[in-house]
This record gives sequence, C-alpha cells and structure tokens, in this order.
Amino acid sequence: MTTGAPAVAARAPGRVNLIGDHTDYTGGLCFPMAIDRHIDIAGSPAAGVVRLTTPGEPDAVVPLDVTDPAAQSPEWARYVAGVVSQLRPSVGFAGTVTSTLPAGAGLSSSAALEVAVALVLGADGTDPVALARLCQAAEHAARGVPTGLLDQLACIGGVAGHGLLIDCRALTTTPVPLPPTDEAEWLVVFTGARSLAASQYTTRVAELAAVEQEIGPVRDASADDVAGLRDPVLRSRARHVVSENARVAAFAESIAAGDVVAAGALMSDSHRSLRDDYQSSAPHVDVLCARLDATPGVLGSRITGGGWGGAVVALTRPGAVDATAVAAVAGTGTRHDAAAWYVHPSPGAHLLDHPEN
Ligand code: GLA
Repeated sequence: MTTGAPAVAARAPGRVNLIGDHTDYTGGLCFPMAIDRHIDIAGSPAAGVVRLTTPGEPDAVVPLDVTDPAAQSPEWARYVAGVVSQLRPSVGFAGTVTSTLPAGAGLSSSAALEVAVALVLGADGTDPVALARLCQAAEHAARGVPTGLLDQLACIGGVAGHGLLIDCRALTTTPVPLPPTDEAEWLVVFTGARSLAASQYTTRVAELAAVEQEIGPVRDASADDVAGLRDPVLRSRARHVVSENARVAAFAESIAAGDVVAAGALMSDSHRSLRDDYQSSAPHVDVLCARLDATPGVLGSRITGGGWGGAVVALTRPGAVDATAVAAVAGTGTRHDAAAWYVHPSPGAHLLDHPEN
C-alpha cells in the first residue's frame, strides 16, 4: 500500500421499499431491495476523533466520547456521531464520504451512512441483525424519530438480483429473485426532499401503540379485531397495517411466481391504503401515482419509505416510462429537485477489498 492511500473502505447501498410500509415497528412484513445507489467511505484509522469530509458540506468531526449525537453539526455529523456513541471505537478514523444517494428522498441515505461508518470503524458485519440494531440505535440517537429496522436490514442484507422478504418480528430476511430487466423494471421518482422528523411519523408510532393496548399485537390482529376498535382514526391506522402485511405476503408470492401484473396491482393497492387509511402520503405524490398508474406499461406505483413526500416506486414494463420526463412533472411545484432513475437490486453493505486502488 502506498503512503497516504486509504486502508479501509466500505460501501453501503440505499434501499427502496417495494411494498410493506409502516409495518416494521409493529413486527410486520416488508419487502425492500438494496439499490445501485450508495454511500462509500474510504480512509484510515486516526487518533482521537472520527473526521469525515464530503464534497459540498462542512466536515463531520466527532470525538470518540461524544454523548449527544443530536447536538452535532453539521446535520450529517449526527448520524456519524450516533454510530460512534453506539460502537465506542477505541481508535478514530479519517476519511472521505462520497454518495450517489440523495438525502431526504425516502431511499435511506441515513441508514447507508450509519452502516458504512460502522463498517469502517470495525463493527462486526457477520451478524446482520446485531449490526442493524446498532445502526437503528444510532439513528434514534441522531434524530429522535422512533424508526423501525427496515432500512438498516435492507441496507445490510441486500442480494444482487433479489428483493428481501423481511419478517420484522422473527427478524428473518428471505431473498426472493426479482424479474429480469427484460420483463419488468423498478423506477424510483424522487419528488423533493422532506424531513421525517417534521412529519407525523412519531404520531403514527404512538397511534399503533394505542391500537396494541386495545387489541394486542397488530401482527396477529384479524379484520374483526380491527373493526372492533372504538376510535375511527385508530381503526384506519390498524386497517392499513393488517392489510399491508397481507399485501406483502401476496406480493412475495406473485413475484416468486413471475406474476408482475398481480405484483403491480398490489403496489397500487398499498398506495391507496397509505393515502387513505394511514394518511402518510402527500397530494403531489398522489397526483404522480395516478399519472403513473394511467401510463401504458406501468404495472403499479406507490409512495415508498417514511412518506409525507419523498419517493415513489413504480413497477414498469421495460422502457415504459421516460425517467427524465417523469422527473420534470414530479415536484411539488415549489421545489425543483425532483429526479427519477431506474434502480437495480444490489448487494448489501460490505467492506471493499482493495481500497488503495
Ligand atoms: C422509514 C423508517 C422505517 C420504516 C419506514 C416506513 O423509512 O426508517 O423504519 O418505518 O419509514 O415503512
């Protein structure tokens, strides 16, 4: 290795959740895939602090004994600090972060950053659930939003060519082969940045806790249990989760059977449930999904990830949609940062073999 060349490098992908949103924090089912947009970190062990640079942002400089990750600045340093506070490495790190993942788009850039930081700081990558939990705790410390394990499990567990059926109660991840690109493709449309911390995410987590106080685990609830809930708002929230868990199971079966038409229809059903029962969509996203669903060759579309804006995922016949043209009409009207890409199922986070090259 030449002097000054990075000694350690890691790559962590973003994820798109194909179906199964707002199910993870009640031990439900979700079906994400890791995508070919990722965060890379390369650098070397260093004394005393973790110091990361990235183009266009102030450096993140985090002491190894950091106690309040949420108080760090710049903002992206909070996620780095979150990992440091959980992992407590005895040796620091100096390196560079590069990214092809937009932040705030619902594609888990924060989970990718956390996982990449954990790997370069020497976290044990052999136990995916333990690593996911460590990074989830880092996320909670950084942001204070009580998110589930979906993002970290998807980022860590990705398999090229496969989606992941994740059971968030058993904490099992089952890779399912996705259709070849000459049959169907996955389009992600980023409709503009949004903040989960400013959203009603935390309120929804509390609403589901209230549901479970009344009827027990939502994962085990029947339609009758849901119908018996007294509060109409809680009834709608529970109806989304119970029906979404069923849709994820049906989606996994359709995909495994090669029935992309049925899989696409389930995605659009999921969007309607998130829009109407969970109320975690946004008007400009609903307009976009309606437009996509009406486009020949689009098999289904839905809001994906945390919600209240962010990203949409669509299942399309090859070449059915011009990504650039969709991006041009996808924004909120006040933002001009919309973008769209076809994404491909990709390997999970890993150390890179020859960082010096
Ligand atoms: C965010 C959270 C996840 C999950 C999704 C919604 O991405 O980080 O844990 O709850 O929202 O499915």
